[in-house]
Amino acid sequence: MATGTPQGFSEPPMTHLAAIVEFSEDAIISKTLEGKILTWNRGAESVYGYTVAEAVGRPMTLLLPEDRPDEEAEILERIGKGQRVEHFETVRRRKNGELIDVSLTISPIRDRGGFIVGASHVARDITERRRLDQQLRHLAAIVESSADAIISKTLEGRILTWNAGAEEVYGYTAAEAIGRPMTLLLPADRPDEEAEILERIRRGQPVEHFETVRRRKNGELIDVSLTISPVRDATGRIMSASHVARDITERKRLDEQLRHTQKLESIGVLAGGVAHDFNNLLTGILGNASLALEILPEGDPARELLQNVLDSSDRAAHLTRQLLAYAGQGQFVIEPVDVSRMVHEISGLIQTSIPKNVHLKLELREDVPSIQADPSQVQQLIMNLVVNGAEAIPADENGIVLVTSGLHEVDEGYLRDNLPGYDLAPGLYATLHVHDTGCGMDETTLGRIYDPFFTTKFMGRGLGLAAVQGIVRGHRGALKVSSRPGKGTTFEVLLPVAGHTAAASGTGPAPRPNPRDRLVLVIDDEEIIRRTAKSMLERHGYTVVLAENGQEGVDLFRALGERVSAVLLDMTMPVMGGQEAMGRLKALDPTVKVVLSSGHTEAEAVRQFKGAGLSGFIQKPYSSSALAEKLKQILEAS
Ligand SMILES: Nc1ncnc2c1ncn2[C@@H]1O[C@H](COP(=O)(O)OP(=O)(O)OP(=O)(O)O)[C@@H](O)[C@H]1O
Ligand SMILES: [Mg+2]
Repeated sequence: MATGTPQGFSEPPMTHLAAIVEFSEDAIISKTLEGKILTWNRGAESVYGYTVAEAVGRPMTLLLPEDRPDEEAEILERIGKGQRVEHFETVRRRKNGELIDVSLTISPIRDRGGFIVGASHVARDITERRRLDQQLRHLAAIVESSADAIISKTLEGRILTWNAGAEEVYGYTAAEAIGRPMTLLLPADRPDEEAEILERIRRGQPVEHFETVRRRKNGELIDVSLTISPVRDATGRIMSASHVARDITERKRLDEQLRHTQKLESIGVLAGGVAHDFNNLLTGILGNASLALEILPEGDPARELLQNVLDSSDRAAHLTRQLLAYAGQGQFVIEPVDVSRMVHEISGLIQTSIPKNVHLKLELREDVPSIQADPSQVQQLIMNLVVNGAEAIPADENGIVLVTSGLHEVDEGYLRDNLPGYDLAPGLYATLHVHDTGCGMDETTLGRIYDPFFTTKFMGRGLGLAAVQGIVRGHRGALKVSSRPGKGTTFEVLLPVAGHTAAASGTGPAPRPNPRDRLVLVIDDEEIIRRTAKSMLERHGYTVVLAENGQEGVDLFRALGERVSAVLLDMTMPVMGGQEAMGRLKALDPTVKVVLSSGHTEAEAVRQFKGAGLSGFIQKPYSSSALAEKLKQILEAS
């Protein structure tokens, strides 16, 4: 059948058919029932690579790849039975050895009498189509497995395809979404956004990384980053649009949290710094006022004024303590603390600071093991929570503040589900719950309660909970709150249990010492502190020697030797700081009694000091009697 030149339309019809066969892109071959090739068109030349001359007269098995030697025989057997083989996809080998994918249709050829005399073999090279199919399957798999929503839509915004990511991000199944308009996902406050996007797409402009809000099926609003692009056909005409959406709600939340944390950290640094300086000033005010009060005779009208100064200074000292606790700089002395006992002990004090309409109830377990903590801070924490509870109860109603203590074995699962964001170790925790029947809080308030200076109270400072949080963090604990408006509030504190229980702290009656002639070395860089301490100590019968920094202190101590009964040591000083001075003093005399005096330090530093054999600690600002009491304690102990 291999004709050569094109035929004119004046030729008989059969010749037209021959031309169609000859120029077909498919291979069209005829063969005998034994499989010998009879005719071979141009399509066969290009599909299989053999020329007419090379192919005609040879067996069709010529084209079989090694791994399917019997396929031609089987085909011929079916043809012999009068059956066709249609669109059979298989593999053939070209002349150059290359394997190609083909789709075969093989039919019997009959003579005028209807006898089968041979077979026609039509083959289409589907290698390229297969490759594209496979590529498309891979692409589809990528789209389907993507966590991003990948959607295609018409230029009018009707949804065409919807991947699994889209189901995840938007909550609709493919069946629910396909065919519906994309405006389905618009939140109520931005009704025109989709129309604007489509307008741009029709102009051929993509929308990239556009951060906006969409509504999920369940009504929830999510932050998304959208990239929407025009999809073009082979001629470049825009035929549809792709919409890729990533849920960035969590990322936005974390960003926000990070910004918030950074803000709070800088407030903490600022607050800590101010509180430290302020504390030193207060030491001067409190000290001098208390001295003046001791000097003035009973009945002097100035006494009342001085008492006012003392009361105000006390309140100011309370504020600086809250600030220092918040800044994580207030932790001084770590010792075993029995939380139940502590709540019990301070309940009297608490009772006096809450109004009569509030009933304070305690449910304390006696078997809660001790925690390693700074007792004054735990006290501050309890006070702050209980006072808040009491303040939440309206003045014209009766209400209850209930404090319970307990024990909680915390495991990984509990930490993950209940205390995300806390980096805690699993283990045993002492718990304190402070419940109140007060006004409760809405979501907005709850979101801000730990911010320093956030308050909803007329006279509030907004420092109570900030301090509580600082204290809990400093003790490697956790803090949880649950509250609803009108339903009261519960704060839960978890503090890690120490390896041992608290030692009894009762010291029993002690002989009254006579402090006269006892020499105290005061080392502090602040002049007002030195002067105040000197006046205070002298009033209580001590002799005082002053040093401006660690170096001077150590030199004086070397000179005075064992005449020094005790050293009152500041922590941060120029030339030589407290820590180094401590080491030198101990080196000169291992039995030296050193009382650390500071308003600003870190637990770590104290631990170092502790190892160095500190005898005591007094927090600035201190009153005359507190200082005398502290010195008496440590001198008696020897
Ligand atoms: N138990 C509670 N019930 C209801 N609201 C509370 C409770 N505890 C705290 N709050 C809310 O949290 C805010 C912050 O409390 P926080 O203790 O930090 O400051 P404050 O009590 O306002 O002032 P202060 O510094 O005097 O303690 C309160 O103003 C109040 O709105
Ligand atoms: Mg408070």
